[in-house]
Amino acid sequence: MAIDLNLQETMSLITEKHQGRLIAGAVLLVTTIVSFIKLLLMWSDSRVRSRSRLPPTIPAVPIIGGLIRFMRGPISMIREEYARLGSVFTLNALGYRITFLIGPEVSEHLFNGAESEMSQREVYRFTVAAFGRGVAFDVPYSLRLEQIRIFAEGLRGNKLRGYATLMVCEAEEYFSKWGESGTVDLKHELEQVILRITSRCLLGREVRENLFDDVATLFHDLCNGMQPVSVIFPYLPIPAHWRRDRARQRLREMFGTIIRARKASGRSEEDMLQRLIDYRYKDGRATTEDEIAGLLITVLFGGQQTSSITSTWTGAYLLQFRRYLAAAVEEQEEAIWRHGDRIDHDVFAEMDVLYRCIKEALRLQPPVAIMFRWSHSDFAVTTREGEELVVPKGQMVAASPAVANRLPHVYKDPDLYDPERFAPGRSEDKAAGALSYISFGGGKHWCLGEFFAYLEIKTVWAHLLRNFEMELVSPFPENEWNSMLVGVKGKLMVKYTRRKLVVVDGK
Ligand code: HEM
Repeated sequence: MAIDLNLQETMSLITEKHQGRLIAGAVLLVTTIVSFIKLLLMWSDSRVRSRSRLPPTIPAVPIIGGLIRFMRGPISMIREEYARLGSVFTLNALGYRITFLIGPEVSEHLFNGAESEMSQREVYRFTVAAFGRGVAFDVPYSLRLEQIRIFAEGLRGNKLRGYATLMVCEAEEYFSKWGESGTVDLKHELEQVILRITSRCLLGREVRENLFDDVATLFHDLCNGMQPVSVIFPYLPIPAHWRRDRARQRLREMFGTIIRARKASGRSEEDMLQRLIDYRYKDGRATTEDEIAGLLITVLFGGQQTSSITSTWTGAYLLQFRRYLAAAVEEQEEAIWRHGDRIDHDVFAEMDVLYRCIKEALRLQPPVAIMFRWSHSDFAVTTREGEELVVPKGQMVAASPAVANRLPHVYKDPDLYDPERFAPGRSEDKAAGALSYISFGGGKHWCLGEFFAYLEIKTVWAHLLRNFEMELVSPFPENEWNSMLVGVKGKLMVKYTRRKLVVVDGK
């Protein structure tokens, strides 16, 4: 019996040892195979890379050379290198590589690549300091998509009808304060009226009626906290960042108070704030106060400056090229003849001449002058010149509306202000494919506020054209980088005289 037990114990010991060895052997084998496959893949990867050509690199002094040139004038640098190196080229700066993909033929992967291959998060993460935690580029992509969906629903379709009425009221109220005649800095005036419109439609009645001045000041500090240096060092202890952080904190508190008051009152409003309060995530969870505040700041940031810059350029071009101004005024006369004083979403939808004037100003002067992505895998690109290149993973890629929107093989006389290039029959923005006109981006992250932006800029300009005669009295402006966007340099001085458009002879 004892011998039997010993034998059994010995046998089970041997079996356990044997099993242990077997498992260890299997693990070793699997690890070896996996490592071998990885090595093989790396080897073939490097062979593919060494066989395929990398994009040409901009010659510059090592380490900082490219950076200095880029900082001095990124757009002129990209234009010059496009002419010299072709549609795909790389800038080396401070150990970073940025490959520029210029033109509709080469930018498809940047705009339409899967998020796992071509993402925004790595390059726009610095915005977390301004937008706050739990929103936009601070959250996993699946959550960001849900947040993007809230914006999409709040900025399109039927929502725009309601916004149109609010926008008209804001524009009428703002310009009623102008005198019979005078001289104004139109850039400043348009910033003010667009901020009022955006606040009313997105942040809500409470902000617009009681807190507008505070919000305007805080928003100004928030935008100024986005300096070029913030892209690399978003938390660098500098006064602009301290003001940004204080402004964000204060806005968060103000929005928190409004959200609680609205919820307690049981009232519902037609604005973006209400959509954010009412939204339920797919898992049934409600949006938190932090998220609502962060998302409001995000959407305000995305829409305010871009739209006010575009309104100003629209004015500068119309007042400079007066035959297009005359055509835009004539269109307003026709609208009055057809609809009288009624001006709403449907009437705005008929204003094609004004639409093309805005679109052309935006083609020539896109506020978002460069867009970036991070490549997570190597990808091949055939240049416009017909060469096969490979852009490696682990680096930035970029597209530039400021350069791509003026390519001579896409647009006839590309530097000329010619709104009629978008008219039926010419449609130059479509001839070279969907990515020929990228002022609003393209593909997967195409701007959600495009229709909202056109509506508010049309609102402002329809009002100005109907009620004022205007003349540009300062030189045509240049552009300048203003925090993260390209804006209008200096003032845009305009002399105005009040008038009322009348339709003669029942035309
Ligand atoms: C003329 C005015 C505007 C211009 C030129 C403009 C331009 C752009 C561009 C270029 C992008 C893409 C950025 C990228 O791919 O990296 C974008 C995205 C976006 N824009 Fe606009 N925008 C304007 C107005 C607005 C307005 C008024 C709003 C909201 C009220 C808005 C909300 C957004 C949002 C939420 C996105 C992100 C879309 C996404 O990631 O899927 N934009 N915009």
